Amino acid sequence: MSAVIVTGAAGGIGRVFSLALADAGHSVVAADIAPTNAVVEEIEARGGSALGLRVDVCDRASTLAMAQATLERFGSIDGLVNNAAYYTAIVKSDFDQIDVEEWDRCFAVNVRGQWLCAAAVAPAMREQRRGKIVNVSSMTVPTAPPGFAHYVASKAAVVGLSRALARELGEHGVCVNTLTPDYIAFDREYDNRQPEMAPMLTAQRCIRREAQSEDLVGTLLHLLGPGSDFVTGQSFWVNGGRAFS
Ligand SMILES: NC(=O)c1ccc[n+]([C@@H]2O[C@H](COP(=O)([O-])OP(=O)(O)OC[C@H]3O[C@@H](n4cnc5c(N)ncnc54)[C@H](O)[C@@H]3O)[C@@H](O)[C@H]2O)c1
Repeated sequence: MSAVIVTGAAGGIGRVFSLALADAGHSVVAADIAPTNAVVEEIEARGGSALGLRVDVCDRASTLAMAQATLERFGSIDGLVNNAAYYTAIVKSDFDQIDVEEWDRCFAVNVRGQWLCAAAVAPAMREQRRGKIVNVSSMTVPTAPPGFAHYVASKAAVVGLSRALARELGEHGVCVNTLTPDYIAFDREYDNRQPEMAPMLTAQRCIRREAQSEDLVGTLLHLLGPGSDFVTGQSFWVNGGRAFS
């Protein structure tokens, strides 16, 4: 059985990823700055194996403790899903009006966080000579909707980070790829602030419906599983054909 860390697992897409990974037979480390008791209980109720950890991905010591706790509980770190983000809480404004603190917070979570988590698991993956890292980006990178330049820039940095890590970790048998969701309107409070968004995007897709978190699961399982050992440094867009990579 393989052990996969999912950051940002307390809710949203991270919760769905955690449940799907557990259903597929992986042991899941549900890591989040928010409490993860609920998702751990859900996994255990379905017969899966999970460890919940309170982790701040921006903090090196916290990410190192996450890797250590995973090794102590499961004996290996086979996958990392860098999903945690400063996203639904983001303050939207014109690019020249974004507060410096807001900009830095976005990059701290979305970019430094993914880098620190990868750095924390890399020693174990190198030693094992295998591992899969999936960094979550966003369709805002190719489409760049106005109003949150800091988020778009941070998610573009994720693509570069994946490629740099793929280059450095490839010789150790570790694959690093980017998974790019489209807008998923499961957060109704967030969605209600921009009700035009979901129908507008649906109209642009080859497959004319709203995106669901579950639509990402097949690609995620492939990137974490044994059939993708020659796939690294790539970006996977799961968007119903709204734009072509
Ligand atoms: N929902 C969408 O439409 C959408 C679209 C494209 C990309 N994404 C990306 O998918 C991922 C999940 O999105 P979501 O909609 O579930 O986001 P969300 O904002 O609902 O959840 C993010 C999670 O990250 C956690 N988190 C925030 N800061 C943290 C920190 N410092 N340390 C640890 N955990 C922290 C939060 O507690 C939360 O559980 C994110 O990377 C997001 O950028 C989402």
